[in-house]
Amino acid sequence: MIEINNVSKSFGEQVVLNEIDIHFEEGKIYGIIGRNGSGKTVLLKCICGLLAPTKGNVIIDGKAVGKDMDYPDNVGFIIENPSFLKHYSGFKNLKYLASIRRKITDEDIINSMKIVGLDPYDKKKVGKYSLGMRQRLGIAQAIMEKPDILILDEPMNSLDNKGVTDIRNLLLKLRDQGKLIIIASHVKEDIDVLCDEVYGICDGKCSLTARKDSEEIQADMVV
Ligand SMILES: Nc1ncnc2c1ncn2[C@@H]1O[C@H](COP(=O)(O)OP(=O)(O)OP(=O)(O)O)[C@@H](O)[C@H]1O
Ligand SMILES: [Mg+2]
Repeated sequence: MIEINNVSKSFGEQVVLNEIDIHFEEGKIYGIIGRNGSGKTVLLKCICGLLAPTKGNVIIDGKAVGKDMDYPDNVGFIIENPSFLKHYSGFKNLKYLASIRRKITDEDIINSMKIVGLDPYDKKKVGKYSLGMRQRLGIAQAIMEKPDILILDEPMNSLDNKGVTDIRNLLLKLRDQGKLIIIASHVKEDIDVLCDEVYGICDGKCSLTARKDSEEIQADMVV
């Protein structure tokens, strides 16, 4: 479903991704681990069409990202800190974003907010949201269009214990419905509980890690 073919990404002299080849299949949760600055976010951005690879390509459902389409339309994502209009309520923010993609209904927005534990009728402006509430809104945004692919960069950031449990259960449910989910995370437990396969990025290379290796890499990482 997602083919990463010989993808390299450099910024000036710095080679962040070096000839990466991975195929991701539907119905699985994939973990991406690696130290700070190893290239996890850059890889996810290349998949979502937010960064163009220096070399190689990303094919989603047979179409090349950035060539056959600017952005893949079957992908929901949350990358780094989601940004919202701070003078609008959560619902109004999602409604505004949904207007860009017309097939999202008010009911979809209401449901996705409820799923992540936010009150869709709360008039509170997003500028007054806590960090965890903003993160939940970001996840609601990623799922509101019911995409087949979810790309989540540190999705548990700022969530409390209940939030983490809720979102873990949600992701496992979506996986069982056949979605393809890719998660970059520093949290060892999220990777252990959630992921069917784990890839480690190191020195520009990305390779499948055995559980044991992934534990070693994670033990070495800053949490
Ligand atoms: N737009 C950019 N321009 C220049 N360099 C960049 C850019 N985006 C990322 N980099 C560099 O690419 C490298 C990988 O960054 P990336 O954000 O992918 O790391 P990461 O693995 O996600 O780290 P973290 O665990 O801190 O989130 C870093 O050295 C970073 O400075
Ligand atoms: Mg990152």
